[in-house]
Amino acid sequence: MAKKIFFSYYDMSKYLLIIKKGKKEVAKNLKQTVNINQKDAVKVKAPIVEALKMAYENPTYQFHIPGHTKGKAIFKDFRNLIGEKALNIDTTDEFDNLGTLHPATGPIKEAQELAAEAFGAKKTFFLLNGSTAGNLALAMALTKKGQKIIVNRNCHRSILTGLIISGAEPIWICPNKIEDWSVWGNIDAATVERTIRENPDVSMVWITNPTYEGVVSDIKSISTVCKKYGIPFIVDEAHGCLWNFNKHLPETALKLGADAVVHSLHKTGGSMSQSSMLHIAKDSCLDCDAVEKALKLLHTTSPSLMLLASLDAARANLQSKNGQNLLERAVKNAKYLRTRLDAIPGVHQLKGDFGYKTDVTKVFIKVDGLSGKRLESILEIDFGIEVESASDIGVLILCNIGNKHSDFKYLADCLEKIAANHYQDIYYLEKRKHMPMLEPQIKMSLRDAFYAEKETVAKEDAIGRISAEVVAECPPGISILLPGELITEEHLPYLNDYKTLDVVRV
Ligand SMILES: Cc1ncc(COP(=O)(O)O)c(C=O)c1O
Repeated sequence: MAKKIFFSYYDMSKYLLIIKKGKKEVAKNLKQTVNINQKDAVKVKAPIVEALKMAYENPTYQFHIPGHTKGKAIFKDFRNLIGEKALNIDTTDEFDNLGTLHPATGPIKEAQELAAEAFGAKKTFFLLNGSTAGNLALAMALTKKGQKIIVNRNCHRSILTGLIISGAEPIWICPNKIEDWSVWGNIDAATVERTIRENPDVSMVWITNPTYEGVVSDIKSISTVCKKYGIPFIVDEAHGCLWNFNKHLPETALKLGADAVVHSLHKTGGSMSQSSMLHIAKDSCLDCDAVEKALKLLHTTSPSLMLLASLDAARANLQSKNGQNLLERAVKNAKYLRTRLDAIPGVHQLKGDFGYKTDVTKVFIKVDGLSGKRLESILEIDFGIEVESASDIGVLILCNIGNKHSDFKYLADCLEKIAANHYQDIYYLEKRKHMPMLEPQIKMSLRDAFYAEKETVAKEDAIGRISAEVVAECPPGISILLPGELITEEHLPYLNDYKTLDVVRV
């Protein structure tokens, strides 16, 4: 369906309201909507939220998608669960003068501009389909077939999917390993520089920071190396979207010289699942138009206004007094939890003591005698606690802006009980591994192997063959095997859930 011509959201809204209600009521309406953050000392605007509110308060007869028509035709149990109001505002960018996403117009454009200002970017794009969409767009827009791109091997699968699409060739670098915890650590600037020297035709450096468990690399030094060689530098900061809003958290790559950064606002920033942002840095020469065009191709043509509004709201919240207090509380809660953990014998936490830094709000915990998977099930079944993730080694706790202090007190009390030997009778170490930490043996290019003639073979028969598929489980979406890599016995402990694998036909 063709988009409506959008001349000015506010003028249009006022115009419609004047027709419908008369000037007096319009003025009242506008006043209400503009002052949604009355209680905040810091006034923050949220244009999409305001526009949706206005649309909600001024209903029309609806003869367009979505066909559930403001929830009237939706399964009753679902309507009761989600609530009429949420269904009422479930609309896309074609209606109600809410602006459009591609091209960005009206409140959506304004909200993206406010986000760019808040995050310190030249340009911010709102993403549906998460940071995955951002990584795909960056790869599609900025890399070409055969170009060499330096990427950390523990990158999220969305980056390599992007490289499969574009045909660019990843030059893998492996971060330092934190063996005791079976996790990847930081990436050294020296490793990046050495790899650039070995591959002088490299076109881009693309680094993930922080790791899922919160290990932070020295982005400033890596950016200095990239600038020295005149190579664009992208940072997948999916797990670091709060950093710009609190001085106790690491510095965002946008301030440290990266050209582009993706943020999963839905992970820790307070927006709804699947909503993220992609920022282009102020002084970057990256082609913003190309990125925008790629996003237009990748995005749905029916963007959910609810998700877009949630991004607008999350940014407004983080800038508001209330949001800043919540973030301050999250940092305090994290410090409290860490202090409590230090005092429990047999309980350990991953800390930034060993030449790398960590994000204080991500707490990776292990308990002597228990695998992370077992600890996860004890916490869940016996104490009603759900953690972010569990590996064979430990569990990951996120100290979120939405958690109260009492949540952390409860968690620490439970860990105290667990560590006090009550659970020795079910002592059991996992035979399966969860965090792929293998150095790849590359036999074929990523894209060639992905598009090669394939056959599906039993996992055991795949040893010695070349993988033709991306094997990456979420969380954290880090690849166990990539197309073009040799499959070896070392992969087996990570492949418990797989009976067969796709391999390149010989
Ligand atoms: C480092 C990293 N980048 C990108 C993504 C993709 O994010 P999203 O789930 O927002 O698509 C993830 C998801 O876990 C991730 O861990």
